[in-house]
Amino acid sequence: MRIEYNQFDEETLNKEATLMTIGNGYLGLRAVQEENYRNQDRGFFVRGIFDRAVGTESAELVNLPDITALELRINGEVFSMNSSKISQYQRYLELSTGELVRSLIWQTASGQRVRITNKRIANQKEKSQLAFQLIVEPLDEGTCMISVKTGIDGQVSNGGNQHLIEQDLRVFDERLLVAEYETIESQLKLGLAMRLNKAGVISAKNRKIQTTISETCSKEAPFILEKMVYVFSGLETEASFEAAKTAGQQNVSYGTVFAETKTAWKDFWQNHRVTIASENPFDQQAIDFACYHLQIMTPDAPQFSVGAKGLTGEGYKGHVFWDTEIFILPFFLHNYPEIAESLLKYRYFRLAGAKEKAQQNNYQGALFPWESALTGYEETPKYAAINIRTGKRQVISSAMAEHHIVADIAFAVMDLYETTNDQVFMDQYGKELLKETALFWLSRGEEVAGRIEIHDVIGPDEYTEHINNNAYTNYLAAYNVQAALDHSTGDEELNQQFEEFLAKLYLPVPNEAGLIPQDDSFLTKPSIDLKKYKEQAGSQLILTDYSRQEVIDRQILKQADLVMLMYLQPQLFDFETIKKNLYYYEERTIHDSSLSKAIHAIVAARINEAEWAYEMFQAACRIDLNDQPHTSDEGIHAASLGAIWLATVFGFAGISKGEQLAVTPQLPKAWQQLQFSFYWKNEKIHFDLTQDRLILSKATQAELPIMIDGQEYHLKQKLEWRRN
Ligand code: BGC
Repeated sequence: MRIEYNQFDEETLNKEATLMTIGNGYLGLRAVQEENYRNQDRGFFVRGIFDRAVGTESAELVNLPDITALELRINGEVFSMNSSKISQYQRYLELSTGELVRSLIWQTASGQRVRITNKRIANQKEKSQLAFQLIVEPLDEGTCMISVKTGIDGQVSNGGNQHLIEQDLRVFDERLLVAEYETIESQLKLGLAMRLNKAGVISAKNRKIQTTISETCSKEAPFILEKMVYVFSGLETEASFEAAKTAGQQNVSYGTVFAETKTAWKDFWQNHRVTIASENPFDQQAIDFACYHLQIMTPDAPQFSVGAKGLTGEGYKGHVFWDTEIFILPFFLHNYPEIAESLLKYRYFRLAGAKEKAQQNNYQGALFPWESALTGYEETPKYAAINIRTGKRQVISSAMAEHHIVADIAFAVMDLYETTNDQVFMDQYGKELLKETALFWLSRGEEVAGRIEIHDVIGPDEYTEHINNNAYTNYLAAYNVQAALDHSTGDEELNQQFEEFLAKLYLPVPNEAGLIPQDDSFLTKPSIDLKKYKEQAGSQLILTDYSRQEVIDRQILKQADLVMLMYLQPQLFDFETIKKNLYYYEERTIHDSSLSKAIHAIVAARINEAEWAYEMFQAACRIDLNDQPHTSDEGIHAASLGAIWLATVFGFAGISKGEQLAVTPQLPKAWQQLQFSFYWKNEKIHFDLTQDRLILSKATQAELPIMIDGQEYHLKQKLEWRRN
């Protein structure tokens, strides 16, 4: 269970840093190398620490002071992978334990050989803690003079935006460095402590506090440096400096943190690992990688949610999109339902911002921001980066028109309720979310010749803007309002309004050719050959050949749109309609968004196209795990990792949810076996599928009705089904 890069290459450093990030949902630390290399972006993040830099539009997840840099000298010679003589280089993230390891042999200019091993780990229990270890082991006779310089470096910024004011820097006992910072605009405090197992010479200058430790070592007595880092934010404690200092005073060894963390990961994998016996071992690696990242990106406190890049980079400024509710939340819903609840509470606690946005735009109810951070107010930048030729900036219309986010949140509330039957959650949080989101749709619709239409929106496909009656949006709005009615808080007049809305809302149906129009104008637009662009999916190459408007005026999709609807609401359309529309729309989809391919894979599996689905699944797996050096520099594609899990469970295992669970397995030929656990209505069901049989088991005797390949069965403790 490893992600490894066993060749040092300056070109891929940022990608490695992203993919091998360690973390625990509270913090994330990019897997940067200890030494400084050209263009290497260091990154350390704590969820919820957002700040708006002077002169910028939106708050961003603050890149915190660096704690990873370490300058190593042997007999005065500085270690660098660029100039030193190195052999047996190995660097990997061990997914089973969460440990990042680098190991190599360095032959110094004077000919001495030493083995250098660096390890780090993010504690899964004490989430404010990170542990580091450096071992320098001379391989030849004689002694080596070691000098190590490390510390807390406040010179870090978010691409040049400064967010932190240094408030205090202290040293205690020559082994404990403590720093306190405050974010400039949001005024959040941050306490950082670094505790070393050896005393050193301390210096504090230019926003850095550092210690230099010098020691001789030999073959018999290697040099072992351990450093513990603690980070506390003002969101948890008033006294972040004190908290960091107190934590740093403990005597904890790397081994202890490792053991604790290993146990936590073991537990995670034992309970939640998806195992795939495939001809292609890559499939197992991809699903392990996805689950590892899902686990480390997700906070477990209801004040926080998941950013589009998790806690792995500065991309998308750490903002939360629909990615969370639709792509990431289901993994938790069916593994740790309490975390799915917590993610929805994040929205509930931000209803005030959503209501204010609705009001400012003359709507009722709650209009959740397209991009959200800590406050719950809209954070989508108004303009994209400047076009350096025209000097103009492209307007980003998502905040003004990508309103499906409202229904996506309501959809997730219902997904949660149907899965858990948690009435307490529904009463305390769900109902209000459903009501306020439904109210928004009442005011968002407009009556045209007796029917209600929804105009000027952007659907999930962001290459089609400002259109009327986007099928995805209209159907999800209907679902949202129906859900509010079904879980009404008892206001009769409002219920009547909901009913009227539902009776009049225009829901596009298949035309004579069997095509469901993505929106009112889509099918009237010309198509072009997209082969060249599809081959380079994800690169947005089309935008260099065509202007944005030209793209909008053609049948060109960035990502799943109608296919997204068919995935979320398969009951709306019959098999033939789904098949026809999947083929039609996929041909016109570039998959320039990482949210696209895995969703197509699910719908393809549902129309018995398991091999096509598998192709798209593998392509989705390669969005981060590929050979190109820069695809993930700014952070992992969080939603796409969630979607890899979705494709496995809802595509290949063929689970569909409703009143009752239904399973129609569709394993690709390359898979001999697929196993995973799935939480459903207070039961943890174990799925074990092969090409021609399915074994379901659970711990209790309670009878659970379940449809398998169209026939009803009753699962007690174990059920074995064979394909005829
Ligand atoms: C996609 C959106 C997505 C966002 C963040 C965009 O490129 O089009 O659907 O929410 O990225 O991942």
